[in-house]
Amino acid sequence: MEQFELVLGIESSCDETAAAVVKNGREVLSNVISSQVQIHQKYGGVVPEVASRNHLERVLPVVDEAVRTAGVSLREVAGVAVTYGPGLVGSLLVGVSVAKALAFALKVPLIGINHIEGHIYANFLAFPELVPPFLCLTVSGGHTALLVIHEPGRYEVLGNTRDDAAGEAFDKVARVLGLGYPGGPEIEKAARRGDPEAFSFPRALQGEDTLDFSFSGLKTAVLNHLNQRRQKTGAASLSQDEVADIAASFQAAIIDSLVEKTVLAMERTGIKQIALSGGVSANMALRERLEAVAKERGAQFFAPPLKYTTDNAAMIASAGYYRLMAGERSEMSLNAIPDLRFSGV
Ligand code: KG4
Ligand code: ZN
Repeated sequence: MEQFELVLGIESSCDETAAAVVKNGREVLSNVISSQVQIHQKYGGVVPEVASRNHLERVLPVVDEAVRTAGVSLREVAGVAVTYGPGLVGSLLVGVSVAKALAFALKVPLIGINHIEGHIYANFLAFPELVPPFLCLTVSGGHTALLVIHEPGRYEVLGNTRDDAAGEAFDKVARVLGLGYPGGPEIEKAARRGDPEAFSFPRALQGEDTLDFSFSGLKTAVLNHLNQRRQKTGAASLSQDEVADIAASFQAAIIDSLVEKTVLAMERTGIKQIALSGGVSANMALRERLEAVAKERGAQFFAPPLKYTTDNAAMIASAGYYRLMAGERSEMSLNAIPDLRFSGV
C-alpha cells in the first residue's frame, strides 16, 4: 500500500490562512495559523474581498513556515490536502490554487477536503487514545450537526441544523447587542456577568423526537425582546447589565438545545464517547455542561484544544491522510465549492 507519511494541509476558507504538516494522520509536526480577525474586526464581520487579498499575501509565507517549523523539506511531503468548501469562494480559491501548484510541482497526489469533515479530525489529532465509534457534536459558524464517527472517512449524520448554525446565531446576536466580531467569544465574556435565567428564550425542538437543531427562532426572540424593550423605554442603548443578562440567557438557550440533543443521541446509539469540534466548541460553558452530562451517564468526553477546534490546517491534513490512504485523489481540475454540503459518507 502506498504510504503518505507526511501530508501538507492548507486551509483558507474564511479568515484564517493556515498550513500544517501532519505525520501519519495524527502527529502534528507544525500547525501555522495566520488570523485576519483583527483586520475584519473594524468592519464587524468578514469582508470577502479583504479576506481573499490577505490570503493571497499570507499563503506562501504560511506554507513556508509550516514546512520549516516541521523540520522537514517540501520534497518529503507525500500528499497535499486542501479545503475546497464550504466557505468564501475567493478565499477558498487561494488555498486550492496553491495546493494544486504544489502537488503538481512536487508530483504528489492532491486531495480536496470538506471543511466540515476536517473539523472532526481535531479529535484524532488531540486524542491518540480515541478509538471510534464516537459521537461528534460539530458546532461552527456555518454548521451544526451531530455525527457518529464510525472510522476515519465513514460518518453518519444523526441531526443537522434546519436553519442557522449555532456560531452564526452567536455572531448575529452579538451584533444586535453591539458586541464585537467574532460574536461567540464576546457573548461568552458578557454572559459571565449576566443571569442566564433573566429571560426565557425559546429552545426549539425541545422534547421532540428529532436530533435536528434550529436557532433562527431564538435569534428572532432576542431581536423581538430588544425591539419591545426599546419601544417601552425609548432608550437607544442598553446598559451593560442588560447586555450581560441577554447574552447569558441566549447562551443558556443555545447550550440547552445542544446538550439535549447530544444526550438523546447517546441514548439512541448507546455510544459512550462524546467529542466536540468546530469554533463554538471554544465555549467553556458548553464544554462544562457536556462534560457534566457525559460524566453523569458514565461516558467519556473529549474536547480538543482550541488550536485544533478553530479553523486550522492540521485537521485538513489529517482528513487528507485518511482519504489518500483509502486511495482517493482529486483531479487538477479541483475547484472551490462555496456551498459544498456535508452529508457524511
Ligand atoms: O469553526 P470556525 O472557526 O469557523 C467556521 O468553520 O465557521 O467557527 C467560527 C464560529 C464563529 O461563529 C464564532 O463566533 C464561534 O465559532 N465561536 C464561539 C466561541 N469562539 C468562537 N462561539 C461561542 N463561544 C465561543 N467562545
Ligand atoms: Zn471552521
